[in-house]
Amino acid sequence: MCGIIGIASNKPVSINIINSLKKLEYRGYDSAGLATLTEGDINEKKCSGRVEELEKILFKTPSNGNIGIGHVRWATHGVPNIINAHPHSSEEVSVVHNGIVENSDEIKKDLESKGLKFKSQTDTEVITLLITEALKESEPLESVFKTLQKLKGSFALGIIFKNFSNIIIGARRGSPLAVGYAKKENYIGSDSYALKSMTNKISYLDDGELCVLTKDQVSFYDEKLKKINKKIHIMSENNSAIEKGEYKHFMLKEIYEQPETIKNCIGEYVDSLKKKINIINFPIEPNNINKIILIGCGTAYNSCLTAKYWFEELTTIDVEIDIASEFRYRNLKFNSKNLYIFVSQSGETADTAAALDICKKNNVKTCSIVNVIESTIARNSDWVLPIHAGTEIGVASTKAFLGQLTVLYILCLKLAIVRKDIDERTYEKNISSLKKLPEAIKESINTESNVQLMAKEFLKAKGSMFLGRGSSFPIALEGALKLKELSYLHAEGYPAGEMKHGPLALIEEGLPVIIIAPKDKYFEKTLSNMQEVMARGGKILFITDNYKELVNENIRFGLRVPRLDKLLSPILLTIPLQLLSYHVALLKNCDVDKPRNLAKSVTVE
Ligand code: AGP
Repeated sequence: MCGIIGIASNKPVSINIINSLKKLEYRGYDSAGLATLTEGDINEKKCSGRVEELEKILFKTPSNGNIGIGHVRWATHGVPNIINAHPHSSEEVSVVHNGIVENSDEIKKDLESKGLKFKSQTDTEVITLLITEALKESEPLESVFKTLQKLKGSFALGIIFKNFSNIIIGARRGSPLAVGYAKKENYIGSDSYALKSMTNKISYLDDGELCVLTKDQVSFYDEKLKKINKKIHIMSENNSAIEKGEYKHFMLKEIYEQPETIKNCIGEYVDSLKKKINIINFPIEPNNINKIILIGCGTAYNSCLTAKYWFEELTTIDVEIDIASEFRYRNLKFNSKNLYIFVSQSGETADTAAALDICKKNNVKTCSIVNVIESTIARNSDWVLPIHAGTEIGVASTKAFLGQLTVLYILCLKLAIVRKDIDERTYEKNISSLKKLPEAIKESINTESNVQLMAKEFLKAKGSMFLGRGSSFPIALEGALKLKELSYLHAEGYPAGEMKHGPLALIEEGLPVIIIAPKDKYFEKTLSNMQEVMARGGKILFITDNYKELVNENIRFGLRVPRLDKLLSPILLTIPLQLLSYHVALLKNCDVDKPRNLAKSVTVE
């Protein structure tokens, strides 16, 4: 994963590098570093841990230099420590790298046999040494180009040179790289967000491309080193998502933003007067769609699973779902009448992007449901449905999950009506309920004070279990995923009916078991499963939208969310689970916005 930044300017760059690295921390935060060219030398500063630590180092010993590169790391090769932190420099060159060099062991052995010495355990250092060797006989651009020919894998690079002190070279293969332009200053960065406070003019490198930056100009080259031109995109100016405002954490802010983000999202797709969904330009005529395949990772996968229940309920389309890291290696039979839908908040997840590439190679139609519309996945798919959630900073996905669900639901309704799988009355009734969703989300957030009490039940727990049936099953998975990633407490998400086939053995006195039981066709069945857990000493925490029955005195804790329509209940039931993971993490003093070992955007395989 990792984030990279490079700035060529007519004034010192280290402060702006630090500011950009703070924005890139969502990509990795186990170590950080920068290198500037100061008085003809490469001046490197590194730390293990957060960018804050690097800032303290710079405060004590400032780095001058009008050209520099910076890096935040999410360790792949070698433990997170100062030695393995980027940049990796030789006397001649300094490199920051996002991604993986798959043949680094092979190259390392070869270079060692020639007497070269390595300082770190990273794969990146082979790039540094290869460029250093190439520089003995070539100019910088050609040296980088020759080096790239030897590397396998997927990566983005930023490179500065001791003896060519006015340039930064950027290169992209697989991992994203944006280029930004300002007056007497140009930039490279892992994403446009990192550059946003400095410029709104952005270009994106495509696979295999390189760029050479000076403070005055940027030149682009294709994979054969032929000079090319790139389009400049003007980004919107909205920066409010980047600040925490009155909230203690981005995650809490993002949970509270959901009524607004969902309202925006519905507003983008639903005509407010005519009660019609204005999705057009389907890549396959809806009546000719044979099957829909929904693909994603983590939370995005959970939204795919939820949508499968909706498609099955409302349409006659056959739906499959797949985890992107599995999809990309399976021996699949592609069909040009199938629509392949990729769900991703960031639009940069390596496995999802690779799965999309495979579909493209097999000439099938692709759609992406993304939050970041400038992302690789959005740019590479035939059809894009943005979720309009605004920048999501917290590593744990909240508002993006609800946005994904909302867009999937809207798409499902639209396909159902176009294919005449539902009648006009049902269509309009469902749209009316959808419009009430933002208000119902607000009410669901109002459960927070009760959720806070519920969170205390997890303090001494050794593990926990989340159970649901039907479309509450993916919500159980999502609740468990959120709790795991934020509070480091083991959590299993299970279909309630599957318990007796094994997991029931885990139930013991006092184990917190969250039962997600909206009033749907499964309600009674779920209650029976709850009884089985209760009989074995499980501590029941019950979440429902059933206003008549909040059943049993043996329930330790009960919570109600509003009820709109049974199809929308997964969205409303998610919110107390988001708040629960947040409050358990707070009670356990965990870093809510940056959980250990994780990163927001998973750009490595
Ligand atoms: C969610 O809380 C996770 N941090 C993670 O599962 C995430 O959803 C997954 O990595 C996919 O990311 P994407 O939506 O950006 O593709």
